[in-house]
Amino acid sequence: MFESFYGMTRTPFSRDIPTDHLYQSTMLEETFGRLNYAAQRQMFAVVTGDCGTGKTTAIRYFKECLDEAKFTVMYLADSKLTPRHFYKGLLEQLGCEAKFYRGDAKRQLHKEIELMQGIHHLQPVVIVDEAHLLDREMLEEVRFLLNTKMDARSPMSLILVGQSELWERFQLQTYAAIRQRIDIQCKLPHMDRAQMGEYVKKHLTYAGVEQDIFSDNAVDEIFRYSSGTARLVNKVCTHSLIYGSQNKRRIIDDHMVKFVVQGELS
Ligand SMILES: Nc1ncnc2c1ncn2[C@@H]1O[C@H](COP(=O)(O)OP(=O)(O)OP(=O)(O)O)[C@@H](O)[C@H]1O
Ligand SMILES: [Mg+2]
Repeated sequence: MFESFYGMTRTPFSRDIPTDHLYQSTMLEETFGRLNYAAQRQMFAVVTGDCGTGKTTAIRYFKECLDEAKFTVMYLADSKLTPRHFYKGLLEQLGCEAKFYRGDAKRQLHKEIELMQGIHHLQPVVIVDEAHLLDREMLEEVRFLLNTKMDARSPMSLILVGQSELWERFQLQTYAAIRQRIDIQCKLPHMDRAQMGEYVKKHLTYAGVEQDIFSDNAVDEIFRYSSGTARLVNKVCTHSLIYGSQNKRRIIDDHMVKFVVQGELS
């Protein structure tokens, strides 16, 4: 649509941007460093942040950077996860058919993990995304993964990823047993204005555009609308590019962004 008008070779602000073209914010690097540490030492990590701040993207980046010869990553993102589906999902990712009963499936998973470590020398990393949607029973079940051998040694690294409310829940007394076991915590903030400017540039570079399309004032306006949330930045930029191309405007200014926000996004 707008790509040919702006001479783009790829679509910017898309969800499927390859990890080697991501905006390398200090936040992304820091999250990666912490998760890498958690994976090396089989720790329990929790990643939280407001919706659209880039948690799943950070996980995607982490997963692709991990050494495949050392780690096996299992990733689940299912808001309606039940304990049975949890074990089934993990076992399927290990290429196993899960036993029917939850207790059997759980033992089966622990056995597979022991084999993985003992024979193949691979460390398991379990990632549960959208964890803020899980109920307490399910969160406890996930946490029990770490609880074999009488808590003496964790059999894997576990990473829970969820919106900020997950962290707020962990502050409640009923979640104390989980909270106390958290080794590493990552909170993803919103981008500030300067970071967001770099983020927009990075997406345009990925699309093959070197010149600026958004004026400085337009970027201010994008920041006002998005508060530095990546998904909202993507949305307002995409809508502005569509509008700009339809009106044959090479440069998108703040008035155009305002018009798009008021007309289409508010
Ligand atoms: N570092 C980055 N570089 C480029 N694009 C990014 C980056 N981080 C996030 N994005 C973009 O922002 C969008 C939203 O990010 P993501 O889906 O990771 O957010 P989230 O925090 O997981 O949201 P939710 O809480 O709704 O699951 C992604 O589709 C991606 O295109
Ligand atoms: Mg996500």
